[in-house]
Order: sequence, then structure tokens, then C-alpha cells
Amino acid sequence: MAGGRRLSPACLFLAVALVVLVALPELAAARTRRYTFNVTMATVTRLCVTKSIPTVNGRFPGPKVVVREGDRLVVQVHNNINNNVTFHWHGVRQLRSGWSDGPSYITQCPIQPGQSYAYDFRIVGQRGTLWWHAHFSWLRATLYGPLLILPPRGVPYPFPKPHTEVPLMLGEWFNADPEAVIKQALQTGGGPNVSDAYTFNGLPGPTYNCSGASDTFKLRVQPGKTYLLRLVNAALNDELFFAVDNHTLTVVQADASYVKPFTADTLVISPGQTMDVLLTAASSPSSPAAAFAIAVAPYTNTVGTFDNTTAIAVLEYDGAPQQSALRSLPRPALPLYNDTGAVTNFSARFRSLASAQYPAHVPRTVDRRFFFAVGLGLDPCQSRVNGTCQGPNGTRFAASMNNVSFTMPRTSLLQAHYQRRYSGVLTANFPAAPPVPFNYTGTPPNNTFVTHGTRVVPLNFNTTVEVVLQDTSILGAESHPLHLHGYDFFVVGQGFGNYDANNDTAKYNLVDPVQRNTISVPTAGWVAIRFVADNPGVWIMHCHLDVHLSWGLAMAWLVNDGPLPNQKLPPPPSDIPR
Ligand code: C2O
Repeated sequence: MAGGRRLSPACLFLAVALVVLVALPELAAARTRRYTFNVTMATVTRLCVTKSIPTVNGRFPGPKVVVREGDRLVVQVHNNINNNVTFHWHGVRQLRSGWSDGPSYITQCPIQPGQSYAYDFRIVGQRGTLWWHAHFSWLRATLYGPLLILPPRGVPYPFPKPHTEVPLMLGEWFNADPEAVIKQALQTGGGPNVSDAYTFNGLPGPTYNCSGASDTFKLRVQPGKTYLLRLVNAALNDELFFAVDNHTLTVVQADASYVKPFTADTLVISPGQTMDVLLTAASSPSSPAAAFAIAVAPYTNTVGTFDNTTAIAVLEYDGAPQQSALRSLPRPALPLYNDTGAVTNFSARFRSLASAQYPAHVPRTVDRRFFFAVGLGLDPCQSRVNGTCQGPNGTRFAASMNNVSFTMPRTSLLQAHYQRRYSGVLTANFPAAPPVPFNYTGTPPNNTFVTHGTRVVPLNFNTTVEVVLQDTSILGAESHPLHLHGYDFFVVGQGFGNYDANNDTAKYNLVDPVQRNTISVPTAGWVAIRFVADNPGVWIMHCHLDVHLSWGLAMAWLVNDGPLPNQKLPPPPSDIPR
């Protein structure tokens, strides 16, 4: 310290006192919440099929993780299954804790069988419902659970306090092993087999063969009381319509940000998205049975096959006679599976709460603009299976952004970045626009073969980014739920057809656009998002339909350190998997 500036003792005391006073309320409130995830195989039976599935602590779906805004969360994972695994805390900002984000080969190498890793991060400026899931291959089919973020103690919700809160995870059940399903699809180049049922908290309910009362999720309610349903779409490959017969829902939160409350009879929720909705039970239910169906069914415009079933859970009033005829419960009317109009009407209604307490810091100016064409494409057949390929015209399915199909690296991109050893791992040349512009939503070009690479966009710290995500009609226009790791973004505009910078930019909402981590690129349309690159690290952005992710519909942002010490990515934890 010789030669350094000296503070007088009094001055030093004042400085220390000031630091303590400022930090105290935060320190007093914040807690460390510890969980242990033992990944084990467990036997479960659904639709009369008994099989062994990967689980966390033997439970399916996995355990509920509960924290308060401001808390530190430490999850010690022990991998006891015969497969690599990682866990992603979907929607958590992971400010300077990128080593805990979880996507395999992006921020870490997988946790190998017999190995352990502790995810360690803080929840900052987020509250509501998020979720956790495995982020290796299709393991998230059974490895998922809710991550509930309560507001800080003493801070109320900006809506009437519900009587009870109920996590409701929508999932997909495969009678086959999902790992075998994707493995086979990647070998043949064709589309994967589809799921056999949709589920509510792991239960398919009475609409399926060989599925009865004990396989049905029941929500018991008391007349006149209000319930907060914490909805998560954990399905692998399907966007879902959701409705409760005879009840209106009030949407109050999306992706762990409050929204201006609005009512709806039918919700649309894409894989990766979360939504908190209020449901008020009738004060005197009129139905003699006093039980009502909660239903989900798919929304899709795929030209391929899909799981076109409807799953039912039951809203059951207290004191009502036990409902026996579950199968004959009237179902709420859901839109047709390809009703894009219904989806547009619903998604257009989301607005940030944008209140004094929860302001919307929408970037009004942009440093860098990107235009990503998002969709399917093809690979030539390389005769992997018996000299034939089962994609269109004997090719193989692929998917891309700006015609680059993402190649998973063999080492973690974040580790390569931290060591500044990029060569042979990634190239910093992901295109800012499609290499050859075309009529994205019109007749597709003749050549729809994709290119391959692990290409990223480098960003300087604090760059304000706008990305227009444009759907393409290659192999059929289709909605793509795009998820960005490490950030929330504002959805400033969307529309149908090809994005037109001259006209569409003027119509952006820069006042109260919804803030999300996952947004569906509309079928044959576009969506514009903005975010500020204030979180150093490597962040994957990908389609949350796992089949499209497997086909390469992903890219990554490489956000460089800022100049200040608290703007730098810290070193990796000592237990980071090798
Ligand atoms: Cu919920 Cu990279 O995903």
C-alpha cells in the first residue's frame, strides 16, 4: 500500500459504515437455497407402458425448486445414470454466472456418468415462474421441473393475492425411449416419431387408452377462491392451446416478468415459455358434477406428422360428489390445430406491466441490427442407412438460421472463449443477414441445402442489439419458438409476410412491449426483438422445438467482457466438468 492514497481513520470508518448500510437490507433478505439433484433411473407406468426413465431424485416430473428474488441458488447435481447430462435454468439471467447456464457444449462439457457439478447463481430482478430442464440431447423429455421465484419478502404481487399457487407443467409422453427416437431420426434423416400423449404434471389423463383416474391430474378448488396457475410448456416439440371449461383466465406474468393483466378463454403457450394465470372458482358452481375439464392440444402448421391428441386434467370443486365419468366430461372448445389467427390474437395482447415499480427499460436506439431467416432446409443424403435417406426426395432434414446449421462443438464454447482459444472450436463470422436474400414467405428457392458450422456473433459489452427473426416457407412455413439464453428481450414488433424495414420499424412498440426469453416467430411472419448485451459469456439462441434444435436451428452470441471488474466473466468453478 506504500505510495497508495491514504484515507484518514474517520474517513475510512464512514466509508465502511456506508457500504454496510447500503448492503444490509439486501444481505438480510437474500438467502442461499441449496438443493441436491440425484439423477437416477426410475420405473414409471403411463398408457400401460412401464419403463425406466431418467429422473431427478426418482421423481417425474422433477422436484419443485423455490427461491426468492435476490437469493443465491446452489444445486448440487450427481449424475448416476448411464448417460451424459447437464441442467439449464430456463430463463434465469445468469448475470456473470454463465458457467451455471447449462447447455451442453456451450457453457460446459456434460456431467459424465458418476460425476458431479454444482450450479451456483443468483436470481436478480426476476420473479414469477421459470423452470429447469436437462440440456443434453432429448433428455429433457423426463428431466424437468418448476423453478418458482417469489417476490422479496414483504413485496406484494401487483395483482390480488391468490388463495393457492399451483405449478402446472405441460409435457409430452413417449411410449418409446425419446433418446432412441431422436437417434433413429438423425440416422435416417427423416422426421422423428411423435409423442403418444400430452401430460399435466406428468399425467396424461382420461382421453387416452389405458389411462384412468389415477393417471389424471386433479386440481381441487374451493368456490369463490382465486388460484394462481403457474404454467410451463415443457413439451419437446409442440406449441399448445390451453383452456379450462367454463372458466376465464387472467394472464398476469410471462417468462418471469409481470404483464398488464388481460383475460382470455384460450391460451397459447410455446415450448420454453411460462405464464402465470389467475383462475377464480365460481362461487356456486352450476354444473351438477362440479368438475370441469382443463384441456391442451397442439398448435402447428408442420407438413410432417405430429401428436394430434388432446389431454385433459380436472378442475374439481370441493364438496362435490366424486366424479367418476371422467371420459365424458365436456371439453372446452379449443381452436383447430392450425389456427394461426387464434394464436396471433392471443399473442398480440401481451404488454409489459411497465409500472413505476416495474419499469420497462426498452432500448430506444440500436447499435447493431441483425436479420435472421429461420427455418428448415436439407442436407444431401450421405447414405448412412442402407443407402437411403428418409427426408424429402431422399434427402435429410436440417434446420438453420441464415442458412447456417449449427454444429455442436466437442468442447465448451465458454471455456474456449475464457481461454481465448477459438481455433478449431468456433468462428466469429455468423452472418448478420441471409447470404442470398429471397422471398422468405413466398416460393422457396430451388437450392435449399444448408451449410454447417459453429459460427457465433461477437458483441462488445453493452451493445444494444435488434434481431428480426424471419420465418421461411422452406419445407413449409411453421412457427418457431426461439429462446435466448442469458437474457430477456423486448418483443418490439411482429407481423406476417416478409419484414419490411421501411414500413414495419415505424410501427414498433417502444413503450410497453412484453419482455420474454422465448418468442414464437409467427408462421410465415417475423418478430423483432431488442436486448442490451450486458452479460458477458457465450449464449445460445435456439428453437425450443427439440427436433429443430437437433437439426441445427441454433446460433450463439459471444458477449465480450466490459472494462470494469464487475463486467467480466469470472473464472470457471473448480468442479466444471472436463
Ligand atoms: Cu429451455 Cu436452451 O433451453
